[in-house]
Amino acid sequence: MKRIALLGLGQVGQGFYEVFEHEKARVAAMTGVSLDLGAVLVRDTQKPRNVMPREGLLISNPDRIIDDTVTDVIVDAINDSTLGYRMAVSALAHGKHFITADKVLVSRHFEELHALANRHGAAFLYEASVGGGTPLIKPLRALERAGEITSLRGILNGSCNFILTGMRDEGASYDTMIARANELGYLEEDPRDDLEGYDTRRKLRILCCVAFGGSVPEADIPCVGITRLRERDIAGLGKAGMEVKLLASAQRQGKGVAAFVFPCAVPRLTALAGISGPLNLVEVTSKYLGRAGAQGLWARARAAAPPATRCLRI
Ligand SMILES: NC(=O)c1ccc[n+]([C@@H]2O[C@H](COP(=O)([O-])OP(=O)(O)OC[C@H]3O[C@@H](n4cnc5c(N)ncnc54)[C@H](OP(=O)(O)O)[C@@H]3O)[C@@H](O)[C@H]2O)c1
Repeated sequence: MKRIALLGLGQVGQGFYEVFEHEKARVAAMTGVSLDLGAVLVRDTQKPRNVMPREGLLISNPDRIIDDTVTDVIVDAINDSTLGYRMAVSALAHGKHFITADKVLVSRHFEELHALANRHGAAFLYEASVGGGTPLIKPLRALERAGEITSLRGILNGSCNFILTGMRDEGASYDTMIARANELGYLEEDPRDDLEGYDTRRKLRILCCVAFGGSVPEADIPCVGITRLRERDIAGLGKAGMEVKLLASAQRQGKGVAAFVFPCAVPRLTALAGISGPLNLVEVTSKYLGRAGAQGLWARARAAAPPATRCLRI
């Protein structure tokens, strides 16, 4: 029996809870290991929720999870990176596996948490931190082991892509599209994280560390967001057959990696230009496989459809 503690019961936490409850019997039959959810940490245990765990499962004191000796795996779906970090350090130092969706936490403490996990024989996993439900980290890790990845690039922030797509398709103003994105719940709590490109840079750093097997600090990735783009830029480039995208790009150069986050003009009729609305796309080039990509819908939208993911060779 493996005992799991879930941190957070918001958008991601509820999704995890539902999948867990639905799939645990099948997983147990397949692996011979039964899974039990022992605690769900939230800020407010009295809040009305769409998903209501069974009596006694909701708790609001993180120390009850930190101090317990029965939990094997912690799944982090809170949006509090300071508490997440405390939980991660405590879990990994005690040999408990730690799985997180929090890209801020992963980007800030990537090397330290990996080292801690290795020292204590625990797993530190963060597939959902980049691209939501789109599988990127696992395939990248496999590719990195199989042969040298030479470059990767992509659209990693669905909110910025939604704004740019609306400006292109409808000639809507930047401010109109921001208001619309906000209304749909697409923007981060601090919208500068999306608009200034910081969110994209965090995700690119995580992908770079995995894909190139080293350490690529955020500070080494120049970053310009979409705040200075206006309707006339999009329209002018459109007339020249180009689409504007907030691109994350990284290339192996000698023993290092050159990476950036910039708004770029990409030729129409390419895979990158075809990514509309809140979709993400990552393209990877490796020595033996050539070019491959993964496309998916990340999950922030308040009333989102189920995440759709497609892996394709391009
Ligand atoms: N939403 C997405 O599309 C998406 C995709 C990939 C990754 N992520 C990442 O996943 C994480 C969760 O995102 P979300 O959208 O699910 O957030 P959310 O809907 O705002 O939910 C956050 C949850 O964390 C709980 N929480 C926050 N601070 C807490 C604290 N100090 N102590 C106890 N519980 C606390 C909240 O409790 P209450 O319910 O009581 O308020 C809530 O249940 C974030 O790191 C986010 O960046 C999100």
